[in-house]
Amino acid sequence: PDTENFYQAVGGEETFRRVVARFYEEVSRDEVLRPLYPEEDLGPAEERLRLFLMQYWGGPHTYSERRGHPRLRMRHVPFSIGPIERDAWLRCMRTAVDEAGLAEHHRRQLWAYLEMAANSLMNSWT
Ligand code: HEM
Repeated sequence: PDTENFYQAVGGEETFRRVVARFYEEVSRDEVLRPLYPEEDLGPAEERLRLFLMQYWGGPHTYSERRGHPRLRMRHVPFSIGPIERDAWLRCMRTAVDEAGLAEHHRRQLWAYLEMAANSLMNSWT
């Protein structure tokens, strides 16, 4: 139906679970990104990103119930994010999104958002 939102149209939680799990598999082997993550276990970070993206695209609001307002720019201040980190993040995410088997118009919509968001979270130019 035309009232179906993006979250439902791409397959709901299952799809976000797959994309974000694949993303963190890449992060765990990425020499630029891995050192930025404070915890040994990437599982909790994976869950936060998954819940955030599900909420953003029209799924359940579990992210905000647990974490409050997203305030993503503020939450990234502790990490130095320049062009190198942004590119590494997008490289890992690109692999995850490309392998998710989305319809082309959905893939493009998701990707446009992720690129915009990654650019907006840069806080260092060195
Ligand atoms: C948290 C790095 C872009 C969403 C984090 C954390 C790191 C990080 C190191 C802490 C891990 C944790 O959750 O404990 C980066 C880098 C980026 C980037 C290097 C490159 C530009 C993005 C983008 C989004 C995003 C584009 C959303 C579309 C989140 C969320 C959290 C998070 C939701 C958890 C916030 C919380 O509730 O504490 N990020 N990130 N990040 N990031 Fe990013």
